[in-house]
This record gives sequence, structure tokens and C-alpha cells, in this order.
Amino acid sequence: MKKINVIPCPETVELLGGTVNAAVFDRCEKITDESGTYGEEGYAIRIDDQGVTVTAETDCGFFYAEQTLKQLKTGAELPCLQIVDRPAYAYRGFLIDSARHMQSVDELKKLIDAAALFKFNVMHWHLSDDQGFRIESERFPLLNEVGSYRDSSDFGGEHLNVRYGGYYTKAEIRDLVAYCAERHIEVIPELDVPGHATALIASYPALSCRRLAIPLETKQGIFNNLLCAGNEDTFTFLFDLLDEIGELFPSKYVHLGGDEAPKTYWEQCPKCRAKKAELGLNDFEELQGWFINRLIAHLTEKGKTAIVWNESLNGGNLDDSAIVQMWMDRRGKSAVWANRGNSVIACPFSYYYCDYPYSMTPVRKTYEYDPVFKGVAPIMRKHVIGVTVPIWTEYISDFDRLCYLAFPRFAAVAERGWTKTENLNYESFCRRFAAVTPLLNRFGVKPAPQIDWDPPKARRLTGTVHFFKDKIDTQAIKNSFGSTNQ
Ligand code: ACM
Ligand code: ZN
Repeated sequence: MKKINVIPCPETVELLGGTVNAAVFDRCEKITDESGTYGEEGYAIRIDDQGVTVTAETDCGFFYAEQTLKQLKTGAELPCLQIVDRPAYAYRGFLIDSARHMQSVDELKKLIDAAALFKFNVMHWHLSDDQGFRIESERFPLLNEVGSYRDSSDFGGEHLNVRYGGYYTKAEIRDLVAYCAERHIEVIPELDVPGHATALIASYPALSCRRLAIPLETKQGIFNNLLCAGNEDTFTFLFDLLDEIGELFPSKYVHLGGDEAPKTYWEQCPKCRAKKAELGLNDFEELQGWFINRLIAHLTEKGKTAIVWNESLNGGNLDDSAIVQMWMDRRGKSAVWANRGNSVIACPFSYYYCDYPYSMTPVRKTYEYDPVFKGVAPIMRKHVIGVTVPIWTEYISDFDRLCYLAFPRFAAVAERGWTKTENLNYESFCRRFAAVTPLLNRFGVKPAPQIDWDPPKARRLTGTVHFFKDKIDTQAIKNSFGSTNQ
């Protein structure tokens, strides 16, 4: 198939013979086709000497046609052509961590503009973690007075003795959600529980097992501070908070986190132990499953569906309605979940995490990862509903650095999420990315130069070691070089 300078690569492109110039874009006709041919997100474009004709069934289809046309409109002569296009996967997300470091609303809008160009339809917004809570709360004001500010920052061993923080006001959040909706992007908030919850606990210590006043964390890492599972007040608090958050985010999905929750304090806590015994549970992983299931039941009552990180499968009792986001899953539980007919999202640490250097995760590696990950049976592949490319921000306080690491990786994952496997080609992707880079620059997004994308093997290990030298995170290096499917 002819490859035109469009990312993601469309399903079919047929050359009609002859060329036209940019003036043809002034004659654009829109046809609504309700026959079901194009579905929720598909479209067709015909460009010939008569002008441009766009056909779609939905506003979203017309919007995606517009993104394709934007990339074709370079001012140069263009071949006459016919495009028919629709996505491979329904769920195409990018994750932005605004908990460790915040981005301004303007910066987020730049990122959203760039994401829309590549036909992402989900912004997974990580808004709560050990180092900060970022949503204005009227019901729980201490979440902002205490939980939104840390005294210093110590990420990667670099000590910044400056109070850091803030939160997005409800007006800002509504504005961003509307901005995304205009671009057919759904915003899914993440409230990470029961672990990664230090900001909640610092604000309301009675919600934790030890009930001690603790400060926010200032370093990257995994912490023992868990919300107490044996305390009914924890659930009253979370139900109320989820309701308040639900009023801001119309998406039918809420991300409940569930990752990296060491059970040390639960094992020591009389209330958690009593709750485990009362429920007849075998271990504390099952207690986490029960904890998450209670929140899921609450969300279900409100017409919402939960997404959780794959650790919430460890208890073996997760509610079937949950969508599991696979990020690091050595025991293959996410594949088993999909093979049982439940939904999963591919978000593999060693392939998609953009916060790590290109030496650790080169763009080719990201591009070539098959979202139908190892262990998913071919006939169950439809249960992989899509992909999410994350950028965590422990080590990223600056928007230009964020863009350098996110692009072209975001575009690579966007293409994996949209384009049929038979149309994927990394060399072609690189050429097409070069052609769309001026559009990204117009949004204020500056990608990494191509020379940095795929360092030679000899530089990969040294580059990665250099990155981690001060960050004392040797496990991540081992994961990067030793993993097979995540
Ligand atoms: C994660 O990276 N802890 C989901
Ligand atoms: Zn407890």
C-alpha cells in the first residue's frame, strides 16, 4: 500500500492517478453515511481535481478525517487519492502524571493537541500519589491544604529544598475536560488506592492503619503507607471522594490504581487482620481484591466502570467488570484475565514507559511491541481493548523534557493502537514522523531528534546505567534488559 505522510497510517490508501495542489482543500464536501460502513470512528477521504470529499458516520469520524487532512496539507502537490480508515483498537490512551510534577493547563492543552493529531481517544490523568494530590476538593479541603504540597523534592537523589505543589481547580478541570471532548478525547481520572496514597493519608491520618501524622513523600518509590482496609471510615471517605471526582469527569471510566501496595502495615494492623478473618480471606492480596471490589460496586451503582493496574489480580478475586491495565506482570495474570473473556489494556513498562531514556527504551522497541501481549490466546485477542502510553514525571519537571521523551513514542503507540498490523513499518513511521514534526512544533511540542531514538547497542547499556546512576533503581534496569513481554 502507498504510504502517505500520515500518522497513524490509514487502513487503505488508493492512488487515483494525477496530482492536485493545496488549493483543492478549499473545496471540501462532507457526506454523512449512516450505513454502518465507517462505525464510530472511521471515515473516508477522496481527493481529486474536483476537491476533497469526506465521508463519515459520526462527528468523531469527521474529526479524525480532519486530523488526516491536516497532515496532508503541506502546501506541496498531492497525489489524487482515496483513503478508507478505521482503528484497530477502541481504546487508545496516553497517561500523564500530574501528581509528581504538575503541568500548567496551557502545557496540558499542547499535549492534548498533539495527542488529538494522532487520534488518541483517552487521556488517563494520574492525579493522586504519594507526592501530591491534584484535584480541588470542597468535601475534603485538607487534601488541598496538606495533600497538595510537599516540603521538598528528592527525585533521583537531587535535593530541591523548595515547597512544591498545587492542584487543578474545578474550573480548570472542567475546562480541560471540555477541551478534550472537543477533540474526542475522554479524560479518565486516576485515584490510586490503597497504596500510592500518602497524600491522602498525610491529609487525613485516621484513614491509615497506623493513624500517624506523616508528611508527603518527596522521593520516587514504593511506600508502605496504605489506606486501612479494616476501617469503615476509609470507604465512606473514598465513596464521597469518588462522587466528588465523578461530578468533574463525565467519563464512564474511573481508574482506581491498585498498583505497588506492599501489605506490611495491613499485616500488622488489628483492624485489617480482623477484616481479613471476618471475610474468611486467605491472604492480604485477597483483602486488596475485596477493597477494590467495594469501590467497584460503588462505581457500578453510579454507572461507572473501574480500570485497575494488574496487581489487583494478585488476590484472584477481582470483580469481572474491572478492566485490567497490564504494566508489569511476570506471572501472566493479565493474559489469563483476557483469556477468561475480561478486558485488558496494554501498557508495558519495558516498551511504553516514556519517562526512561531512549537508551533503555528505543523507539523501534516501542513501535514493534504487539499489544496482544504474550499469553493472550489468538482467539481472545479482542479482549485486549487497546493501549496506553504513559509518561510518569518523577524525573520530569520541565515541559520541553517531557515532550522530548514523549515524542515520537506517543506517535509510535498511537500508530500501534490505530493501524492494522499488516500496514506497520518502522522505517516508514520514521519518515512520516519527520514530515509531521512541523505540525507538532506549531503546537509548541518539540520531539527528540531522530538521532536519539535508537541508540546503537553499545550505547544502550551505558546510557541506561548513566540515567540510573544516582537514582538507585537497579530493579528497573534489570526489568528493562531481562523482560520478555512487559
Ligand atoms: C505503575 O507504573 N506503578 C503503574
Ligand atoms: Zn489497617
